[in-house]
Amino acid sequence: MLAGKHILLIIGGGIAAFKSLDLIRRLRERGAQVTPVLTRAGEEFVTPLSVSALAGHKVFRDLFDLGDEAEMGHIQLSRVADLLVVAPATADLMAKMTQGHANDLASTLLLATDTPVLLAPAMNVRMWEHAATQRNLTTLRGDGIAVVGPNEGDMACGEFGPGRMAEPMEIVAAIETRLADGPLKGKRVLVTSGPTHEPIDPVRYIANRSSGAQGTAVARALAALGAKVIFITGPADVAPPDGVEVIKVQTAQEMLGAVMGALPADAGVFAAAVADWRVASASDRKLKKTKDGLPALEFTENPDILKTVSQLKTGRPALVVGFAAETDDVIENATAKRKRKGCDWIVANDVSPNTGIMGGSENDVTVIDADGAEDWPRMGKEEVARKIAARIAQALG
Ligand code: CTP
Repeated sequence: MLAGKHILLIIGGGIAAFKSLDLIRRLRERGAQVTPVLTRAGEEFVTPLSVSALAGHKVFRDLFDLGDEAEMGHIQLSRVADLLVVAPATADLMAKMTQGHANDLASTLLLATDTPVLLAPAMNVRMWEHAATQRNLTTLRGDGIAVVGPNEGDMACGEFGPGRMAEPMEIVAAIETRLADGPLKGKRVLVTSGPTHEPIDPVRYIANRSSGAQGTAVARALAALGAKVIFITGPADVAPPDGVEVIKVQTAQEMLGAVMGALPADAGVFAAAVADWRVASASDRKLKKTKDGLPALEFTENPDILKTVSQLKTGRPALVVGFAAETDDVIENATAKRKRKGCDWIVANDVSPNTGIMGGSENDVTVIDADGAEDWPRMGKEEVARKIAARIAQALG
């Protein structure tokens, strides 16, 4: 239900704008208050009168409408809502958002807001698949903006493919998910994930087999419980989740910098498989084969991010969770690791090659805290993530 929730609905200029009329109706049936904003292009597809009649609210159309500014300035308008929904989100609006333009009411509201944003893109299939739009989509997702659709099917322009706006009820479901008052609402949680790449020279690096699957699943599960998640990821195989702020890094040193810059936080989950060592003096030129024999690489130790954060004198998150990838004596080693690093919990897993866990879809974990070890049955990484998120919610409760 959406009773008492306030949605600011921006209707962009596309044929799918007619579906937004139904969306307004569905939202109001569920008790939401809808404040509509119609772009100039949107007015070509639906009339301000039908929008305001269905919303039961005045339509905002122009940045320089002084009457509106006196009643409610655009800054305030962008912030009173619980969620900004852009439906249809056109290719042009997405490009404006990516660039941070503020040259009309819709783009200004989107730039001025600190409220979560949900986009329902709708456009011709070629426009959707164009590298520019896909680039913008990646940037917007990285900014923590959630996206629903588009769906695949016949399009008004006569083509077929992805680009149709999600159906009103799908948008309603996405809105309900975004507005769910989870137990982690108001909490800020950092999650590190993926491998790090430590350069040898401009073309070679040292890495590990982490896919980023477990850290990504934890970030998704935390966001689903309402947390504001800062997701700091090395070059992972899996895409970052929706609705989190993404910070991409390559090396352990960059990851440490990003983590320190993202503090303070209520909790930190350190799921990244950080390289323990880096090449002491990575070459800025490609190493060449020589007659004088093989190149000798000298290593130096990387900063331990988990340990650094766990042992902070000021600004330490209330809950610090580490992971331990072990191949032998899992519980013994992980228990010792928890003490050595100073974190609150260690989620230990056996990454022996025969388990198929590193890079696989399942995990077999034991959670170690001050009270001892809790062994969980083998299950999917998403399920492990949900259990970890629920345990974090309980601890921060
Ligand atoms: N970790 C970290 N920074 C590092 C190394 C590890 O933050 N430079 C974190 C990982 O994200 C994980 C935990 O420390 O949460 C344990 O990682 P693991 O690789 O199992 O431990 P190591 O510190 O490498 O210990 P060892 O090599 O002795 O197993």
